[in-house]
Amino acid sequence: MNTRKDIALTGFMGCGKTSVGKALAELLPEYILIDLDEYIESMTGKRIPDIFKEEGESVFRDLEAHALAKIFIGEKSREATGEGRRKIISLGGGAITTEPCRKLLKEYAICFYLKASSNTLVRNLLNDPADRPILNPDGHRMTENSLMERVGQLMTARAPLYESAADHIIPTDGLAPNQAATQILATLRLDT
Ligand code: S3P
Repeated sequence: MNTRKDIALTGFMGCGKTSVGKALAELLPEYILIDLDEYIESMTGKRIPDIFKEEGESVFRDLEAHALAKIFIGEKSREATGEGRRKIISLGGGAITTEPCRKLLKEYAICFYLKASSNTLVRNLLNDPADRPILNPDGHRMTENSLMERVGQLMTARAPLYESAADHIIPTDGLAPNQAATQILATLRLDT
């Protein structure tokens, strides 16, 4: 097992980063699970949709990079004294769109891209009540057709970024979270 780096999970909204992260944390009890969106919400005291609404996407992207730097670098000294824990970080789906986040990931994490088809993403997103400002900018939920179109547009721009940020790609269509987590663990064991 690679003992040098934290683990980051990336992929489009609805690909299952949160549930795969939880399943992986059960398999790796020595790691602590951090959800980047939740970390930002506790760091700022604001909900993600409110940050988008009141301050805009670019402020949110700066916060993502700031939070990631705190997670990776801010706690390194504690790690050196053996107090820190290794981390599994479940990223927001757009974190890989900014250069500062991509650089931090390359330097500090083994990055897994949870790759799902547009059909799977749309199905999961339709069943997920979470408020995602990138998909519902006016606060209204999209219909299946408009969601399919928006996912297609965003994936065209983001797919190359997910692929290049990834150390490993896990195709997740048809996999339960614990199956994807088991594949990640097997990949980590080979990545020594
Ligand atoms: C975003 C994804 C969200 C959240 C924010 C922006 C994106 O996280 O960070 O709403 O740009 O893809 P999830 O991927 O966990 O939904």
